[in-house]
Amino acid sequence: MASSSGMSGEVPDEINVGLMGLGVVGTGVAAYILGKASSLAAATGRNVNLKKVLVRDITRARDIDLPSGLLTTNAEDILADAEIHIVVEVIGGTDPVENHLKQALAAGKHIVTANKEVMAKSGPELLALARKNGANILFEASVGGGIPIVGCLMNELAANDIRSIRSIINGTTNYILTRMANERTSFDQALSEAQGLGYAEADPINDIEGIDAAYKLTILASLAYRQPFQSADVYCEGISRLEPQDFRYAQELGYAIKSLAIANLDDGAVQLRVYPALVPSEHMLAKVDGVYNAVEVDGSLCGQVLFHGMGAGSEPTTSAVVGDLIEVVRKMGSQSRSSGSQEWAGPGNGAALTVRPIGDLQARYYIRLDVADNPGVLAQIAQVLGDGEISIAAVLQRDTDAEAGSAEIVITTHPAKGASMQDALQIMAGLSQVRRVSNVIRIEE
Ligand SMILES: NC(=O)c1ccc[n+]([C@@H]2O[C@H](COP(=O)([O-])OP(=O)(O)OC[C@H]3O[C@@H](n4cnc5c(N)ncnc54)[C@H](OP(=O)(O)O)[C@@H]3O)[C@@H](O)[C@H]2O)c1
Repeated sequence: MASSSGMSGEVPDEINVGLMGLGVVGTGVAAYILGKASSLAAATGRNVNLKKVLVRDITRARDIDLPSGLLTTNAEDILADAEIHIVVEVIGGTDPVENHLKQALAAGKHIVTANKEVMAKSGPELLALARKNGANILFEASVGGGIPIVGCLMNELAANDIRSIRSIINGTTNYILTRMANERTSFDQALSEAQGLGYAEADPINDIEGIDAAYKLTILASLAYRQPFQSADVYCEGISRLEPQDFRYAQELGYAIKSLAIANLDDGAVQLRVYPALVPSEHMLAKVDGVYNAVEVDGSLCGQVLFHGMGAGSEPTTSAVVGDLIEVVRKMGSQSRSSGSQEWAGPGNGAALTVRPIGDLQARYYIRLDVADNPGVLAQIAQVLGDGEISIAAVLQRDTDAEAGSAEIVITTHPAKGASMQDALQIMAGLSQVRRVSNVIRIEE
């Protein structure tokens, strides 16, 4: 047998895979490797074998029949096996995964991972380690499930200066927002439906607070702007403040509400943010419903390109993982550089871009206020906005409660700087006639 690992040298005819994780994604990947051996052989010119599968609990009932002896709870059965050439990691999280990946790369094994968290937190380090050891690490499934956006940013769109990426990359929040828009359900009700259907986890915090989307945006922005960003660079707002009437008013004004993950270049700086936003109803992102994902890339040469598809689930994610596996096998023995390492190499490629704080962002705003139903209230609010040089685009007054003497006012503004808006909101909240600033949502045109 020829060399068992590394990018150069002879490539063996039998390629052995160690699979880490046999959950939603791992089961799909294992089923593919075992059931579609001839397709894999046709695509790669090699036999690709499943040699070991790492799980946490070996006694658990599985949805797949594996040949005996494949399952293990000992990571060393994969990491210390010199005959395993490729590690496919579909466990998730950073502990113990990060150490496993580093150990595998140090041994010259190639890696395919679906793990956005480990890539967002340690991508540059892992890519550097891969490069040092002549190994490849591919991570298409880490963003957008079955949507091929990672590879496209690294390869097909590499000639472009990326002006912006606007995306819906968390299926759980998009499902919740779609239910709230279509059925006018409360946030809590839509969340519990999502949990009942298996779209949201028991602890949904990472999804609803935008943390999962921030990990994914970190990866997309690092590839698009060819420098390592941190997820702490991403300004994050969750969706739990949204109420059914926000969807009603948004619709009346001609908008849908979507949780967007956005990266854009603005005057030599990058702005990275995840937040719920009003999107014009006729825009394509407004029509992305349920658990679907979409990514719109605006490039200097390609213009606007839209990717749309299933962002999660066993089969779409298997499509991305096995696609990477095929690419890794095809590249074995060649001198080609580890995919992603160039993109993520850092400011060596040019001057480092700074990250612009959210307070500097110019945006239009939707503001919903609960006010006393008295004459002159609107004039007071307009004065506060005017003092902050924020001009009003439209005003809706609805839901007057004669008994309580209150009314609900919705104001949309022309573009204003985030910091000026924060100051104005603080002053507004202190006005005696304003009972509550109920919600503030940015408008993306
Ligand atoms: N699910 C999706 O649709 C989707 C889409 C895109 C990306 N991803 C990413 O793919 C990865 C896997 O997701 P998943 O949904 O397949 O997760 P999952 O269903 O929870 O499966 C996780 C698997 O990892 C194993 N595991 C967990 N901790 C372990 C440990 N310490 N040592 C050994 N094995 C361990 C579990 O073993 P047991 O089976 O014994 O419990 C299980 O087989 C994550 O990074 C996720 O973000 C998932």
